[in-house]
Amino acid sequence: RSKRPAGAPDRKLARPVTKIGVVGAGLMAGQFALLFAKALKVPVVITDVDQERVDKGLAYIHGEVDKLRAKGRMSADAANRTKALVTASVSKEAFADADFVIEAVFEELSVKKQVFAEVEAVVSPECILATNTSSLSVTEMAADLRHPERVVGFHFFNPVAVMPLVEIVRAPRTDDAVLATAFALAKELRKTAVLVKDSAAFVVNRVLLRLMGEVSNAFDDGTPAEVADTALRPMGLPMTPFALLAMVGIPVAQHVTESLHAAFGERFRVSANQQALIDHGVRELWVTGEDGVRRIP
Ligand code: CAA
Repeated sequence: RSKRPAGAPDRKLARPVTKIGVVGAGLMAGQFALLFAKALKVPVVITDVDQERVDKGLAYIHGEVDKLRAKGRMSADAANRTKALVTASVSKEAFADADFVIEAVFEELSVKKQVFAEVEAVVSPECILATNTSSLSVTEMAADLRHPERVVGFHFFNPVAVMPLVEIVRAPRTDDAVLATAFALAKELRKTAVLVKDSAAFVVNRVLLRLMGEVSNAFDDGTPAEVADTALRPMGLPMTPFALLAMVGIPVAQHVTESLHAAFGERFRVSANQQALIDHGVRELWVTGEDGVRRIP
């Protein structure tokens, strides 16, 4: 029998999850919507603010299923079943009979609070509201809801299909049954779940951003990105710091760094060159070849 993860409540408290809602149809949302449908085999509904985004999200999921099918990792039946399990809507009314709704919208507290308020207006009192935030306060996100005890952090890592971890965040009012359900869900998804404190960027991003921040400072001091990446590769990192920064994306890295700066001060700050990218409206670094990062001014 597997040991209960540190801090996890009794798994007998876990409630069944028979339908999942995903707010946002962007890349992270699409990745975990697919995972839910594939691993849990329950209906998943994704929503976004307009039809174009919703269509794009659904097309991404169908494309990923087709890739798995082409690689021989999914039978034709399983591929059709998985596609059929995921539906999309521009209205949150589609969450009315969901028992677990997770949001992956823009990383800004006011936006997330607004989303949770809108979702709470349509779901049952027992429905769990989870957030995939990578850096914001789950406690504050829950504060103005009628049922703050239903809120939990459920933080996936990119690429969702491969990264084995989920950080589960307990806010002071999170109910034990909600927490137990989150742990049970992570187990069904075959992810390792850790219970983390509701503090800025939790554990993984707090450490990662310190690493990425220091490498960015070395870059500001004149160390070329390729040199830093080559020097650090033998450290056993699965992805070198600039390749990681490219994958996470400048805006996300900026938001996480700002949350960490607000919480911990000078240990975390956006480096001068990253700030230049932000000022120039650059939203992503380009990686070409083996981990080589190209688009840096
Ligand atoms: N979606 C689905 N599967 C993917 C994928 C994706 N986007 N990217 C890679 N994979 C799969 C590949 O298909 C492959 O699977 P198989 O072995 O079954 O064929 C497997 O992952 C390995 O891929 P590759 O052989 O192409 O490449 P790799 O061995 O270099 O691994 C990696 C790629 C898994 C991404 C690895 O480089 C890695 O672990 N990188 C670190 C990623 C990381 O640190 N993520 C956290 C980012 S921070 C974050 O997400 C939090 C936040 O809130 C900002």
